Amino acid sequence: MAFQKKYNTYLLAILAICFAGCKAGGNFPGMEYMPDMAHSKAVETYTPSPTVDNEVLFANGMSARLPVKGSIPRGYMPYHLKDTAEDYELAGSSVRNPFHDDREAVLKNGKKNFEIYCAVCHGKGGAGNGSLTSLGSGPYPPPPSYFKEGYLDMSEGKMFHSVHHGKNLMGSYASQLTQNERWEVITYIKSLQAKEAKSSQKLGSDEEALAYVLRTSAVSGGYVAPAEDEPESFLDALMSQKLEKGSTITLKNVFFNSGSFQLKPESFVELGKLVSILKNNPASKVEISGHTDSQGDANANLELSKNRAQAVMTYLVTNGVPKAALTSMGYGASVPVADNETEEGRARNRRTEFKVVE
Ligand code: HEC
Repeated sequence: MAFQKKYNTYLLAILAICFAGCKAGGNFPGMEYMPDMAHSKAVETYTPSPTVDNEVLFANGMSARLPVKGSIPRGYMPYHLKDTAEDYELAGSSVRNPFHDDREAVLKNGKKNFEIYCAVCHGKGGAGNGSLTSLGSGPYPPPPSYFKEGYLDMSEGKMFHSVHHGKNLMGSYASQLTQNERWEVITYIKSLQAKEAKSSQKLGSDEEALAYVLRTSAVSGGYVAPAEDEPESFLDALMSQKLEKGSTITLKNVFFNSGSFQLKPESFVELGKLVSILKNNPASKVEISGHTDSQGDANANLELSKNRAQAVMTYLVTNGVPKAALTSMGYGASVPVADNETEEGRARNRRTEFKVVE
């Protein structure tokens, strides 16, 4: 009995504390044991300074305060390169777009901010005819069109650098747009450039056009080597030839994310050529095969190679190659073409091939 009474008293005390703590809201932070700094009592901005013990708390009488020196907004990322010519080049070769593989997802936000911040000069379409410029209805000299040589292939790192630091007549956008927002805008600019490239370079599909723009700008930035001439011209040559039964061709410029079977956009140019070749040879039947190196688990490699071959096949079918003309196979590491002991050999073994079977 005595025990239960004591127990009830404790229970009541705890409930009382809970209720007292629950009244939080508005300017009252509630009662807390060891209060969190995030729940400090709010002082309204633009009101006279509060008083404590009849003394004005802040010397200038205002409640609005500057942030503590050195404080940074939540989510802020510093940018390590300086506003110098050398660092501009360095940005071109080393600063990569974090949305590289997921462009679609950020285009909407990129477009919105581009139209708010950039279109007044660069024009909604990117041709440099914004309303502030003499090509629009304004007094200022127009910025260069994004479609001119030197801009169409400008690396995304350089663009980011210029938008961060500003360039000549263009001011910095570092304080208007967060880093991610700046990248979203640049992703959008690249999509405008792809649209233009599709017609000017006579590219077949939107994907090919985007791959073209990304590839040329990655090459100009120096983070992708120019494509080797030989294999490319080899596929180009095949475009006007009849496919020969039994021939096997390695696709040099088909790329996947590491360990995954998602095609990288850089692959679409090469795959676009393959689409044309197969459409020109409607009587041929082709096997698409995936191969890995011998590193890692054999079953996982087999599965990965199957999925990669399947991904290529799906791309071809989606782009109009009849399904009946294709089969896909995964061989894992079982058909090496080079020594698995060296990195160079392993790189050659990780490949996608197509073989003309009929
Ligand atoms: C006030 C007009 C104006 C606005 C607004 C403006 N720009 Fe520019 N921009 C320019 C001019 C002018 C240049 C050419 C600078 C030069 O090379 O002298 C330029 C150049 C550029 C370049 C090429 C930079 C380089 O390295 O050569 C990029 C990329 C760019 N702008 C992106 C943007 C983005 C993104 C926005 C919006 C966030 C924007 N601009 C807003 C005027 C503007």
